[in-house]
Amino acid sequence: MDRLKNKVAIVTGAGQGIGRGIALRLAEESCFVVVSDIDEANAQKVADEIKQSGKKSIAIKCDVSKKMEVDNLIDKTVENFGALDILVNNAGIFPYKPFLEMAEEDWDKVLSVNLKSVFLSSQAAAKIMKEGSKIVDISSIASLVAFPQLAHYCASKGGMNGFVRALAVELAPKKINVNAIAPGAINTPGAGQSSDEGIKKQTISMIPLGRIGEPEDIANAVLFLASDEASYITGQILTVDGGWTIK
Ligand SMILES: NC(=O)c1ccc[n+]([C@@H]2O[C@H](COP(=O)([O-])OP(=O)(O)OC[C@H]3O[C@@H](n4cnc5c(N)ncnc54)[C@H](O)[C@@H]3O)[C@@H](O)[C@H]2O)c1
Repeated sequence: MDRLKNKVAIVTGAGQGIGRGIALRLAEESCFVVVSDIDEANAQKVADEIKQSGKKSIAIKCDVSKKMEVDNLIDKTVENFGALDILVNNAGIFPYKPFLEMAEEDWDKVLSVNLKSVFLSSQAAAKIMKEGSKIVDISSIASLVAFPQLAHYCASKGGMNGFVRALAVELAPKKINVNAIAPGAINTPGAGQSSDEGIKKQTISMIPLGRIGEPEDIANAVLFLASDEASYITGQILTVDGGWTIK
């Protein structure tokens, strides 16, 4: 229950879904969690939920695609908690669009929110992180296998995997670990799998373990990669998908 005692973490896109699950899980392990989201009200709700359980948390609004807001997020975190030990880049969007209808703006938006954001936050964080710090990025199995109508999303997550490996090597001398998790289908407001029974059944038929994942499944993997138990692991993409992509 105290595996991250007195560590300081930022989780982006933590107002709902997987990010919220990660924030709650890290807080359970006595980590000080900065709950960040473009949706300030949702971020505040999650921070309040953590505080109600007796742990420390603050909410900071941040659009991860904007450098000024990202720099402010890192600065405010250090102002409030004195350090940054764990950065979880979770914020992401997945708007379905057939490739031939995809506008330049659609492409730019997805690449900015899902990929440029990770460059911005990782650079700002790495400048102030001390030895033993951890960066964990939330990729997707869409970085490994094809998903129709998500060409921009697949490209952003594939780009993220390459970035993780490159950054892991560059930050290794500073003893900062950089890894990613590639979730399969996870039950979140954004993914909305549970609303359509037909789609849900079809998705479950793809998954050897026979169920859609929950945010906690991803949060547990993040906890491991953010902990000192993972100090010899870097540059890896850990797939957490109930076996979807092994078939
Ligand atoms: N749910 C899945 O099945 C699934 C599968 C693989 C990967 N992922 C990845 O997991 C991450 C979280 O997905 P989710 O399903 O929880 O999504 P979600 O839509 O339920 O939640 C995403 C959160 O990110 C926030 N956000 C969106 N744009 C932002 C921005 N510009 N700046 C800051 N915050 C922003 C939203 O306000 C929201 O709170 C994403 O990176 C997604 O690509 C999800």
